[in-house]
Amino acid sequence: MAAAAQLCDIGFVGTGVMGKNLIMNLVDNGFTVIAFDLDQAKLNALMAQDAAERGDGPARVYTCNSYTDLLASLKRPHLIVLSVPAGDPVDDVCHKLIDAGLQADDIVVDTGNSLWTDTQRREKDYEGKFILFSTAVSGGEVGARFGPSLMPSGDPYAWARIKPMWTAIAAKVDPASGRPIERKAPGEVVARGEPCAAYIGPSGSGHYVKMVHNGIEYADMQLICEAYQVMRDALAMSDEEIAAVFRHWNDGLLNSYLIEISADVLATRDSETGQPLVRIILDKAGQKGTGLWTAVSSMELGCPAPTIAEAVYARSISTLKDQRVQASKLLAGPATERPAATEREALIQQLHDALYCAKICAYAQGFDLMKTAAREQGWSLNFAEIAKIWRAGCIIRAAFLQSIADAYERKEELENLLLDQYFAGQISRYQSNWRRAVANASLWGVPVPGLSSALSYYDSYRTEVLPANLLQGQRDYFGAHAFERTDKPRGKKFHVEWSHPGRPVVKHG
Ligand code: 6PG
Repeated sequence: MAAAAQLCDIGFVGTGVMGKNLIMNLVDNGFTVIAFDLDQAKLNALMAQDAAERGDGPARVYTCNSYTDLLASLKRPHLIVLSVPAGDPVDDVCHKLIDAGLQADDIVVDTGNSLWTDTQRREKDYEGKFILFSTAVSGGEVGARFGPSLMPSGDPYAWARIKPMWTAIAAKVDPASGRPIERKAPGEVVARGEPCAAYIGPSGSGHYVKMVHNGIEYADMQLICEAYQVMRDALAMSDEEIAAVFRHWNDGLLNSYLIEISADVLATRDSETGQPLVRIILDKAGQKGTGLWTAVSSMELGCPAPTIAEAVYARSISTLKDQRVQASKLLAGPATERPAATEREALIQQLHDALYCAKICAYAQGFDLMKTAAREQGWSLNFAEIAKIWRAGCIIRAAFLQSIADAYERKEELENLLLDQYFAGQISRYQSNWRRAVANASLWGVPVPGLSSALSYYDSYRTEVLPANLLQGQRDYFGAHAFERTDKPRGKKFHVEWSHPGRPVVKHG
């Protein structure tokens, strides 16, 4: 145990990968931290990291071995950050802290990927016992260590207390270029630039926004994977060749962390076999639930997010590995010939444009979802600000987010990103290649659920009359569910006795 000589600024419960790196980041920025973890090995790893990074200097991180010691080592009112798995562990630790003597003005900050409705429920449950605040964190372990994107929400009093700390440790963006300011070495501090930490709103809103961030992350990753599969299976390209394409794309409109790491993954060789590692990784995707929550929320709110939902389904179908192996031998694909090598360059360009347009649609769906949820919950979300805090630190960081921020700065109440002049213009410019890429993939029998669902979303959204008129007729036919008429005021419902067509009767006023 390394005990603090004086009271610390902030206490941590949970020193796993994220907790440990957030602590080291806070310490770099001059805050004193005391940490507790039930797992002594994790506390030891934290101390070892501090020892390795500080060299000959004194210990900069303090640890303790009970919740009571944690509270006794902190300045008052206590400020405690939880870095524990979402779900029951959060409530478990909250109860332990209450038992250890937490007071009504103490602040507990949940930094996990909690379900946003759990956060709302917790704020009520713990009212009068302590203040439950939340800060959704994106950026993985490197982000946590050198600058994450932070989405804080809840009690404004708690935000005032924690703001200087979060502002200090967050990723920073160069205001002139809109690009991240790199910080990669321990001990390094970036005091300039715009911090990727902004107060989102009342309880639950920060976790909702992070959930949608992850839904977009799922869609973005899936779209990139589809481009990879077309290049691999239809264009017969090697992993190195595909990595080179991604590197090239990363210098243009598609510049993003996810494209960059995809190139790195494809270029990595397995140390055991010397094979490209990606060919050895089993094609069964995992998921922890945030993409699913986003898709469920979109369905509950009646707000279409098909590309996000398809990304969740794509992970599900990937898990049916044994069935797919069987089916691959039984189910015929198209007989279409694969393209000639001479067409490759043009086809890669098609994929690039398709990925870009589909990406715009995936983000449009995510932002629309946040807008719809905000209306429902009475939150006043600042979408330009949200796009800005995603420009650096988080997993979906991309140059593209500056254009989204610009769109919401042009029009705060934008109904849908697709209605913004810039994005409408971009899709109109690149859509013909998008359509060709989807059509070609379908002719070759290569699945592109993300690229095609985004295209259908785009085409549905721009279609004045959808076939829902027939659908309403079907519903009325078999279930007397009634419909509105185009020639009568909206809201008035009609039902037809289908055995005597042409004799509509008013169903409800
Ligand atoms: C982030 C990530 C992070 C985590 C996801 C992974 O923003 O830092 O989104 O939250 O990597 O939870 O989710 P899956 O395991 O569901 O892919």
